[in-house]
Amino acid sequence: MEIIASPAAMQRWSENARRRGETIAFVPTMGFLHEGHLTLMREGRKRATRLASSLFVNPTQFGPNEDFSRYPRNFEGDCELMRTVPVDVLFAPEPDVMFPAGSQTWVEATEVTTGLCGDRRPGHFRGVTTVVAKLFNIVKPHLALFGEKDFQQLRAIQRMVADLNFDLEIVPVATVREADGLAMSSRNAYLTPEERQRALALSRALRAAGECMKRGARIPAQLAGAAQAVLERTPGVEIEYVEAVDAETLRPIDQLDRAVVVAIAARVGKTRLIDNAVLTPASESEKLSLSKESAG
Ligand code: PAF
Repeated sequence: MEIIASPAAMQRWSENARRRGETIAFVPTMGFLHEGHLTLMREGRKRATRLASSLFVNPTQFGPNEDFSRYPRNFEGDCELMRTVPVDVLFAPEPDVMFPAGSQTWVEATEVTTGLCGDRRPGHFRGVTTVVAKLFNIVKPHLALFGEKDFQQLRAIQRMVADLNFDLEIVPVATVREADGLAMSSRNAYLTPEERQRALALSRALRAAGECMKRGARIPAQLAGAAQAVLERTPGVEIEYVEAVDAETLRPIDQLDRAVVVAIAARVGKTRLIDNAVLTPASESEKLSLSKESAG
């Protein structure tokens, strides 16, 4: 695996690969890799002839009281894992190379980052879209893969790519979970064994919302209510938000007449965790056959 720290050298690598007719898949990361990242990378490996990744803990997406300085880091371990995929090239720049003194240009998707995490982490998505736009210009991929675990991030990046005519495809990849349902996240490393048990309430809450949908819920608030009830029953889980919103626009809706995303943010101890599930209401014909099944 080639490791490149300079944007100009990375651009040259990609231009040469493109000139040879190669296709480039790209998985941006902040490191401390887990199976979720590796799943994105393996998927990228299948879809293109070259696989690029980046490792950069982006200071601009952390708020002043967030965990930037203590965000888990393990550069050597991450390189080892990337080599198993294998990743062809890793772009790993220093912060002052990505954001030199005098940087003042931001990229922001506005509406889709209003609500949910956007309201609780001011400036976070602006930091994400700015660094991802820069990474796209540096790595020049044909496609880039993002996990659905960070659902609002995924929607913000899709919006940015459409609005700014980036010439690449965004490939969403389903959330990877531990056997017991916990969504994989680098921040799970902060959890004590006891907190990790409590954190299972998030995936349980999403399953409860799914059950509520199957039982014929009519409005998104019923789904959010079912999830919230599970979280409230779990001691040591502090809810930040539980919402069911339009899965495309992330805006609130009144009726369950399209796909919704049930999104949760909660603190377990000092650790902020997020999880979500996209739920699609059964069509009228499916509802009919379900009611026939239950009648028969
Ligand atoms: O999802 C992440 O790890 C980060 O937000 C990303 C996309 C690498 C941008 O820093």
